[in-house]
Amino acid sequence: MSGASLVIGASSGIAQAVISQLLTDDPAATVYRVSRSPNVSQDKNVHSISCDYSEAQIESAIEQLKHSPSITQVFICNGVLHSDAHMPEKRLEDISGSHFLQAINSNTLIPLLWLKHLLPLLNQDDPCTVTLFSARVGSIGDNRLGGWYSYRASKAALNMAVKTAAVEYARRAKQVKLILFHPGTTDTPLSKPFQTNVPGGKLFSPQFVAQQLLSIVDHLEPDGQLSYLDWQGKTIPW
Ligand SMILES: NC(=O)c1ccc[n+]([C@@H]2O[C@H](COP(=O)([O-])OP(=O)(O)OC[C@H]3O[C@@H](n4cnc5c(N)ncnc54)[C@H](OP(=O)(O)O)[C@@H]3O)[C@@H](O)[C@H]2O)c1
Repeated sequence: MSGASLVIGASSGIAQAVISQLLTDDPAATVYRVSRSPNVSQDKNVHSISCDYSEAQIESAIEQLKHSPSITQVFICNGVLHSDAHMPEKRLEDISGSHFLQAINSNTLIPLLWLKHLLPLLNQDDPCTVTLFSARVGSIGDNRLGGWYSYRASKAALNMAVKTAAVEYARRAKQVKLILFHPGTTDTPLSKPFQTNVPGGKLFSPQFVAQQLLSIVDHLEPDGQLSYLDWQGKTIPW
């Protein structure tokens, strides 16, 4: 696809694989990578934007993107499950206010602020897909195991926030297709502490997930609807 791709949270294991795959598919692809840790790419078509995800720096990133070719794919990859101080909760007694608020900030608010500031940029003639990384554990209907209060709640809140934004995007940026994406359990720092119990064949490489995702978004057209899809392109129940 011609036009530029924008990858936010670009240091993520999956985001890096998405960038590599974009460049494999089209060595002349223009890619903007936004991250707290900006890597200078050897590739002259990969442009790094540093951002601490404060609203002021998100606005500044958007200013820089105003001079880019038309953006036709956006991937918002930010997501935090654990930190040095906190592992996901197994029971109510494990809940910590600071961990909960950190999860809501990284997993819900920051992606939503991007949707806020991307809207004027994406109100354009060219179609654009915007993929936000959610997770199956954000599905309320699918929650049978419990646990992981902060991560689950922050992804469920992301789903609701994006569903609400999709109503507005359908009116104000009609050429945008919004997607909530579940990559499956993928071998990155986020899943590292939880990989031992993953059944054989169910721990995906970031490269596999990137290929699945790019082939899914390539086939989606703006339809005014929000899709909540897994790595196979199958719809996940809300
Ligand atoms: N791996 C899995 O098994 C799995 C399963 C389901 C869903 N997901 C979702 O897929 C997405 C990508 O995950 P990954 O596995 O590639 O994770 P990862 O390699 O651990 O990457 C972490 C991501 O979160 C961002 N981030 C970290 N701390 C942050 C903070 N304090 N504030 C804002 N952003 C922060 C990073 O952005 P910077 O580039 O700025 O560092 C990076 O984009 C996440 O949304 C995750 O929830 C992953």
